[in-house]
Amino acid sequence: MSLLPLFVLYAVLLSVALGRAGVRSATTATTPAASTPGAKPQRVLIIGATGDTGRQLVTQALDRGLAVTALVRDPSRLRLEHPQLTIVQGDVLDEAAIAAVMRGQDAVLCALGHKRFFYPTRILSDGTRNILRAMGTHDVPRLVCETALGLGDSAGRMGLYYTLFVIPVILPWYFWDKTRQERLIASSGVDWVIVRPAALTDDAARGRVRHGLHIGGLLLTARISRADVAGFMLDQLESDTYLRQAPGLSW
Ligand SMILES: NC(=O)c1ccc[n+]([C@@H]2O[C@H](COP(=O)([O-])OP(=O)(O)OC[C@H]3O[C@@H](n4cnc5c(N)ncnc54)[C@H](OP(=O)(O)O)[C@@H]3O)[C@@H](O)[C@H]2O)c1
Repeated sequence: MSLLPLFVLYAVLLSVALGRAGVRSATTATTPAASTPGAKPQRVLIIGATGDTGRQLVTQALDRGLAVTALVRDPSRLRLEHPQLTIVQGDVLDEAAIAAVMRGQDAVLCALGHKRFFYPTRILSDGTRNILRAMGTHDVPRLVCETALGLGDSAGRMGLYYTLFVIPVILPWYFWDKTRQERLIASSGVDWVIVRPAALTDDAARGRVRHGLHIGGLLLTARISRADVAGFMLDQLESDTYLRQAPGLSW
């Protein structure tokens, strides 16, 4: 008997489970106040700053005149000097390291990720728990965190290739940890925006992106550049449009 139908059943059930376990914007959102501006932050902490989205966040935040603190495991991976940039060595899994850099920040941008796909990990959720705790201790009001389409009420919207192959074969543990990460954020007391991008590219920013609660599609893989994701995440520091929501993002 072919195992294909069983595999497809597993993939569909996983997608349903990610949908049910993840954050549902529709039920967690406060009423969106159309483009009501939030307080303008001056100092931001960037987690995942040596990553491909993280580097975009750092350079674009500096371009916008923000004072940036980057918590990085290996400072040699962020070859950037700027009078407004402070690079601090540390691990997001180290609660004391996070607490030490959180003091005095106005907001946190998180682009945490890793490549340990093939066994269960809690790096995203444990790291995010540390971030949220430190934000509570130091009264840092806002978190903008990058997760992914395919979670919560965007389940299945990464397109068929991701729903039937990439997520169930390569990323099941990783996506499961992302649902934990999203739930921690949604149940926290901070002002949060979860940004769920489509498949990421390293193309230049186009500046025009589609965003909202019905981004992506069941069939085709939608895409978005990390540069555009970073721009949208930075916009969320000052906008309450998606406060306590998890908009998707694609071109
Ligand atoms: N690839 C896609 O198509 C896609 C689509 C949608 C969403 N996403 C998600 O978007 C996010 C960003 O993706 P990306 O490709 O830009 O990320 P990336 O290049 O993999 O960067 C991940 C960052 O997290 C940091 N990190 C990992 N573990 C850490 C720890 N314990 N302490 C401190 N920092 C740690 C890494 O630091 P090191 O440099 O020290 O490793 C790196 O700076 C990820 O969560 C990813 O799953 C990806």
